[in-house]
Amino acid sequence: MTESLTVRDNRTGAEYEIPIVDGTIKAADLGQIKLNDDEPGLATYDPGFVNTASCRSAITFIDGDKGILEYRGYPIEQLAEKSNFLEVAYLLIHGDLPSKEQYDAWVHEITFHTFVHENVKGFMEGFRYDAHPMGMLMASVGALSTFYPESSKIADPDNRHIQIVRMIAKMPTLGAWAFRHAQGKPYVYPDNELSYAENFLSMLFKMSETKYAGDPRIVKALDTLFILHADHEQNCSTNAVRSVGSSQVDPYSAVAAGIGALFGPLHGGANEAVLKMLRRIGTVDNIPSFIEGVKNGEERLMGFGHRVYKNFDPRAKIIKKACDDVFEVTGVNPLLAVAKELERIALEDEYFVKRKLYPNVDFYSGLIYEALEFPPEMFTVLFAIGRAPGWLAQWLELVQDKEQKIARPKQIYTGPRTLDFVPAEERWA
Ligand code: CMC
Repeated sequence: MTESLTVRDNRTGAEYEIPIVDGTIKAADLGQIKLNDDEPGLATYDPGFVNTASCRSAITFIDGDKGILEYRGYPIEQLAEKSNFLEVAYLLIHGDLPSKEQYDAWVHEITFHTFVHENVKGFMEGFRYDAHPMGMLMASVGALSTFYPESSKIADPDNRHIQIVRMIAKMPTLGAWAFRHAQGKPYVYPDNELSYAENFLSMLFKMSETKYAGDPRIVKALDTLFILHADHEQNCSTNAVRSVGSSQVDPYSAVAAGIGALFGPLHGGANEAVLKMLRRIGTVDNIPSFIEGVKNGEERLMGFGHRVYKNFDPRAKIIKKACDDVFEVTGVNPLLAVAKELERIALEDEYFVKRKLYPNVDFYSGLIYEALEFPPEMFTVLFAIGRAPGWLAQWLELVQDKEQKIARPKQIYTGPRTLDFVPAEERWA
């Protein structure tokens, strides 16, 4: 069977044969389809990139219909249960699981780059008392490019490696300091004897005790949440990292762009929105009227629906289990009952069934974060820390991919043309 597409242009009667490779056609191949040589060729129109592949990638596989998510071929369920976040970060960045020596060296490197330059602290202290921690994280990650100007040498593999290590290592420090800033508490320096997740908790919550000790169940739950968020192929923020990175800027600037994208309520901000929604619903009795509002288009059921998952989001299942572990330590969040009932009712309702809307990763994560005493503004910061290895793995793949070009979509121009400019003094006379 010939892997090609025959296209007939009914405007001219001309036929074209366009190769199909990996289930795609090259959009540029459509450029040959023209009315005449002076006209631009045919292009595709795809707002939101709903059916356009922007790259080849060997990092994350998703089958949205079957609810499958794999990092470098390994199912998310196995990684969440049997691995840990730094091993998963290694896997995403390097493409393979580490040997014992590689793992120890990687953990050592990450652990010993957790400190930031003292001027970063001064810089963060300059934010307003009520600054959103995600804005602080975005700005401080972007600012790291000024502390490491050599990071602009993106063609040098050793240089790329050290910037990746620094970014994964410093994100928890910056995120925790943004949290402490809002609380008016002194920033806590990293404790390099602790694991990645426990050190983060220490920088968030340590007060006058000489050493912070987290409950192992909480440490494990946080580590698992980081794993679940570590990558998700070409989502909005990863696309932002790749798009900005395609200009060959340093990785800090590219990741800062990703953090900006993640901040939005349709992306990483959804779990904060879920919590607000659950609070607004308040009790199980109010669910039916809320669901009616959603069906009438007055509301959106936050934490439901996904561009890719049309069966279930495998991360949501794992998070539900993590909820139980966390609530064993913290006591049950009363909103859990509302969330579970909301999920039950929605999954039986024709509106949601027909549109294939299921709980996504954010439906339960907000409840866990709240139980861990994070204010809602910190939720996206937690997501960003978990997503950092994914952004960096995607950035690394991008800068080594010979097929990639600077991201520069086309547009369909809809404005006026060839107007005559009248100077202001004449227009306003
Ligand atoms: N509540 C009610 N209706 C919905 C919802 C929802 N959460 N999500 C989609 N729909 C409806 C939508 O109105 C449309 O209906 P119709 O065909 O009648 O116009 C249909 O389902 C298709 O939705 P869409 O907006 O075309 O789907 P999309 O792929 O563009 O949007 C989404 C995906 C995640 C932005 C959307 O489902 C949504 O807004 N969900 C709520 C926000 C949320 O939970 N976001 C977190 C996503 S997971 C974390 C991440 O990866 O960032």
